[in-house]
Parts: sequence; structure tokens; C-alpha cells
Amino acid sequence: MHAALTDMLARRQPGYSLDQAFYTDPDIYAQDLDQIFYREWLYAIPACQLTKTGAYARIQIGAYNVVIVKGSDGQIRAFHNSCRHRGSVLCKERDGQVAKLVCPYHQWTYDLDGRLIWARDMGPDFDPTRFSLRPVHLREFCGLVYICLADDVPDFDAYADLARPYLEIHDLHRAKVAYTSSIVEKGNWKLVWENNRECYHCGGTHPALCRSFPLDPEVAGVSADGTISPRLQAHFDRCEATGAQAQFRLAGFAGQYRFARMPLQETAVSYTMDGKAASRRALGRVALPDAGSLLAFHYPSTWNHFLPDISLTFRVTPIGPQETEVTTTWLVDKDAVEGVDYDLKRLTEVWVATNDEDREIVEGNQQGINSPAYLPGPYSPEQESGVEQFVDWYVQTMQRGLTPRAVAAE
Ligand code: FES
Ligand code: FE
Repeated sequence: MHAALTDMLARRQPGYSLDQAFYTDPDIYAQDLDQIFYREWLYAIPACQLTKTGAYARIQIGAYNVVIVKGSDGQIRAFHNSCRHRGSVLCKERDGQVAKLVCPYHQWTYDLDGRLIWARDMGPDFDPTRFSLRPVHLREFCGLVYICLADDVPDFDAYADLARPYLEIHDLHRAKVAYTSSIVEKGNWKLVWENNRECYHCGGTHPALCRSFPLDPEVAGVSADGTISPRLQAHFDRCEATGAQAQFRLAGFAGQYRFARMPLQETAVSYTMDGKAASRRALGRVALPDAGSLLAFHYPSTWNHFLPDISLTFRVTPIGPQETEVTTTWLVDKDAVEGVDYDLKRLTEVWVATNDEDREIVEGNQQGINSPAYLPGPYSPEQESGVEQFVDWYVQTMQRGLTPRAVAAE
């Protein structure tokens, strides 16, 4: 498989969508998991989702089942959701709250920090310290929780250092989850991303979003040659003139992530049907109400919109070769009161509709690609340079992953 896939990646035509197999083949899907999802840092949840001691969230990534739990010391940790006795899952629900992690099979009981603290009838020589839950690497920064399944984790600090000046001003540590939606799109995870990285489709697909989101690709920072339009530059300058100790300019590194604060349509300040704020109590300290949306993506797991009044995080989780889960979380200030400071329908309706519209077009894209008649087609240089950028990152990351590593010298 490696040789055939390496060959296919090398033969890829730049500027064109990928060959059918990349969107359909179970073997390539397995390699996507191996080379990307089992290796890279993945966005998991906003930290504020786990408010109380013992609150947990369970996440399935390919074959891995991970539980993220808040300890009595306030620290968030992640463990493989598999008992050290005979392997049963510990937490079956998607989320919940527990005093201890108790295995449903024979009730081995783990503290929230993963230590085994109780196991019945295991004999006098049994050493519980040898059977703690297996930890999963976890980083919490600026109110976001990332996990990594690899033994040798890739560097996280370069990303965190770049992200911090953009994110700190949004005060995600004082957020609360107003709403979460998880939808399943019957499409390969790369189609979900390709669709996310362009707005060529927006005018014909997203009537609600287009009330606030600008359709000009230059405004969204996707000029093909990487230059920044005068209009966008003027927006960055205006944001920075507020004197906030925050970063507003376009920034990226190695193609895996990018941050940029883009203006919304003329008078819009948030993603609502009338363009007005979604919450009267702002989450964060962005001084300009019309500072727009801080668009942030981090391949392969998340894109985000951080606004002056609310924040939105999106998580992309592959389920199968032609199935992907997209989880959206709406964050508001923890003191914002539903029905007083924000209305849940008003807060969520634009992106609930947009997600569903995107689901439909991703599924249509997958269905068309499944035909033997499908041939890779050209990306629009004016509208789809972001798609090309994602596909280039995918191809390069796969090529790097498939390259045999040098055997350490004896
Ligand atoms: Fe967990 Fe037996 S498998 S207690
Ligand atoms: Fe869309």
C-alpha cells in the first residue's frame, strides 16, 4: 500500500482535485488515520466544557477511544478509554460527570488522575501502581484543549506561541458552552475541509451566512499569490489602532494553521440574521465591535471563528472513508444569561443552517466523486487557493509520513 500510495501522491496534478481513491478507498483512509490523525495534535474541546470536577468528554478518533476528564486538582487530563484489567471501555456516554472512573465490567476503580485505586480479589502480590490508565498527550492553552495520540508528539509550542497573541484577547477561559451540535456528513474528511477552505460556493448555498460573511475572496485572505488586499490591510490597521495588545494580522506557519481577523459585511458585527451582536455581554476584550471574525484553522481537526461577542469552534472527526463528524460549539461569556443577554435560536441559527447546507453539498460532492466517470478538476485560482493550500498540505504531510524514517545508529 505504501508504495502505491507514494506513487499516487507523486503523480498528483497540482491545482486539481485529488484522484477518486483519495476520497473513497478504505486503505487510503486507513493511511490518513495512521499518518495524520494518529500523529498530529488534534483539537478536542473548549476547556470550559468541563466545568466541574469529574466532568468528562469522550472522543473517538479512528480506532482510538479517548476520555478527557477534569481532575479534583482542576487539571484536565486525557486517557485511553480502556480498562487496564481486560480492556473494557470505562465511559460509555459521550459526556457526563463521575466521582471516579469505574469500569462497568468488574468495577476496577480509577481516580480522576488515572491511578487505579480499587480492584477486588486480585491476590496479595497485585501491584495497582502498574495498572494506571494509559495517558494521552494533552495541552490546554488559551481555553482550548488539544490531544495527540502519538508516542512522540510533534512540536506544539510553535503553534501555541503564534496563536496566543491572537486568542488571549478572547478570554476563552471565561467562556461557557451555550450550545453544541454534532452532525455527520456522508463525505470523506478531506471534502469537508476542501469545502471549508473556499467560499466559491457560498453565494449559491448559504443565504443566512451571506448576510454577514463577505463573499470577496480577498477579504477572506485567500489571494492566490499570498498578497494582502488594500481593503484587508486597512482593516488590520484599524484593529491595531485600538492599541490592544493583540495580534490582528495574517499569520501562518508551515501551512498547517493560520490566523487572520477578517472584516464581515459592511454593518455586520456577528453571525446573526440581522448582523447585530449575538450576545449583549461580550466574550473577550476586542475593542472594535466590527473587528470581524478571527478565522483560525489548524489541520486536520479544527476551524474556528472568534468574534468580538461570541466564539465558535468546529471539530472535524473522520468516522469512515465517506463519513465525517463535524462538532460545533457556541461559546458565550460565562456570565451571559440565556433569554437576557442572548437568545439561543438567534445565537445559533446562522451556523446551524450553514452547517446543514455544507453537509448537503459535501454529500453531493462525495456522490459525484463515487462515479467511475469522475475526473479530478481544476481549482479556481481566484476563489479556491485555500483548497489548493489544504490539498498541498495533505499531500506533503502524507509524503512525509510515508517516508521511511532513518534507523537510529546502533
Ligand atoms: Fe475493567 Fe474488568 S475489564 S474491571
Ligand atoms: Fe459552506
